[in-house]
Amino acid sequence: MPSRKFTALWLLALGLFLTPLLHAAAADEVWWKHAVIYEIYPRSFQDSNGDGMGDLNGITERLDYLKDLGVDAIWIAPLYPSPQVDFGYDISDYENVDPQYGTLADFDRLLAEAQKRNIRIIMDAVMNHTSDKHPWFIESASSRTNPKADWYIWRDGKGPGKPPNNWLSTFGGSAWQFDPARNQYYYHYFYIQQPDLNWRNPQVEHAMFNMLRFWLDKGVAGFRLDAVPTLFEDPTLTDEKILPGKNKFGDPNEETKLQENLPEVHGVIRRMRTMVNTYPNNRVLIGETYLPNVQELDKWYGGAKHNELQLPMDMQVGFEKKLDANEFRQRITDAETKLDGNQPLFVFDNHDNPRSAARYGDGVHNKAIDQMLATILFTTHSTAMMYYGDEIEMPTTVPTSKDQVKDPIGISGWPQEKGRDGERTPMQWNSSTAAGFSTNPNTWLPVAPDYKEVNVEVESKEPDSMLNWYKKLIALRRTDPAIHDGVMKMLETGNQQIVAWTRKAPNGEVVVVACSFAAEPQSVSLQKALGGSGKTAKTLAASGGGEQNGTVDLNAVSLPAYGSIVAQVQ
Ligand code: GLC
Repeated sequence: MPSRKFTALWLLALGLFLTPLLHAAAADEVWWKHAVIYEIYPRSFQDSNGDGMGDLNGITERLDYLKDLGVDAIWIAPLYPSPQVDFGYDISDYENVDPQYGTLADFDRLLAEAQKRNIRIIMDAVMNHTSDKHPWFIESASSRTNPKADWYIWRDGKGPGKPPNNWLSTFGGSAWQFDPARNQYYYHYFYIQQPDLNWRNPQVEHAMFNMLRFWLDKGVAGFRLDAVPTLFEDPTLTDEKILPGKNKFGDPNEETKLQENLPEVHGVIRRMRTMVNTYPNNRVLIGETYLPNVQELDKWYGGAKHNELQLPMDMQVGFEKKLDANEFRQRITDAETKLDGNQPLFVFDNHDNPRSAARYGDGVHNKAIDQMLATILFTTHSTAMMYYGDEIEMPTTVPTSKDQVKDPIGISGWPQEKGRDGERTPMQWNSSTAAGFSTNPNTWLPVAPDYKEVNVEVESKEPDSMLNWYKKLIALRRTDPAIHDGVMKMLETGNQQIVAWTRKAPNGEVVVVACSFAAEPQSVSLQKALGGSGKTAKTLAASGGGEQNGTVDLNAVSLPAYGSIVAQVQ
């Protein structure tokens, strides 16, 4: 029999051998594949100092709420010093915090407090353009010979008052702005105050990668790359093709083929991924990638090479033109089958578009529709990205007159384009002054009028609230092995109004999910589509007022209008 001493030594050796392996396994758990990522628009989340505008200390105060909701990471829209023409997307210093949001020390505290709660922080990396007040641009604009003369896209005009070509800014008007000091035009895809950087100059890439390192060194979990398909423009400056009709700003419609999604951008992204991969703990690159189809989306992952972004946003599923089951089924299937095994990232809402109820709601079943969309977001195999306020069904409050508008595109485009204020209103926490967002009743944008009924405090107490639906789905996503990690398979039920799929865990557990896109109740047989395995299922979650608990007959699953069900096959 081995001596006790021998056994103890043996156990110690085994421990020494296993510990690094266990650590490696933990590090390998690729967190972003299962994550719920929560977008925070910092102006609108929580004001901590009573100036009517959100700030970093406000976000820190609300970390326990986010933890309780089940959020894994927060993406914070730009918090850097900025003249705020585009509310932070015009950056004048990449390595600091705008005083209206706090200080770098506040940021460090937010990061440390978030880390304590296992919440990661994702920064917004705005690399296509800077503010026109950034020292780089001021220097670049000062002469044609300064060291940064070529850091932006400068060109001669075609003649007095004539820009280099017909390219338009996506925010209205010509994309070219004349600068008298250089007697040249500079290019801006967004506002005049957002000059585009010249990514063909290697010094620009070098400076931007250094900026990313600054934040990576602090310990952020990754970046959301703003407007990243627009980094490069066609160097020949050929005119874009003019299309019939006018856009919301009264300009002629034009193609944007020469202004965005140029192949050169992929070289930058591959180098960026290589750089980011040198950091431990699975840092992630997320792309703001509005793309026309799944083939284009796959390129942003590096296709089968998986060497570009880990998570370019799939804007196909969440930004469909209408609530159409066949379209949704096709898009979700595409994301599962045509992305070379890359991880999909579905997004239904952000700070640039009316919230999903305003886009998909029918005015009668808005809540059921939003609940059903949340079922898609949290129980498919996709990484889930949500926008603050979605969890309480915050409304989109569009300004009713031009003088109320804060977003400049709403001013220049009024009344066709009313801007993005509607989806940026302050978070509704409770029924008190300014919905608990601020002690100051004069908030930067008015609080939506429904805040007394639609807020976190009220909804926490209502079992059937949107907030509790979100919590339930997010909890299932964390704890149920099939929903957390299971292989996903789309089902053909024969009912065109139903989108259904299964998730199968390695332990054999099968969860079936069915979502109805019909305004009338449906009864659907899932058993045949499931291949006959199991006749009943145990309800894990059901929305739209359907069966809440108990056992479901898989031969006749009833779904109320826009209902959804998540059930474990028995
Ligand atoms: C992205 C942002 C948007 C911003 C634009 C210019 O689309 O999401 O808010 O206006 O880039 O930076």
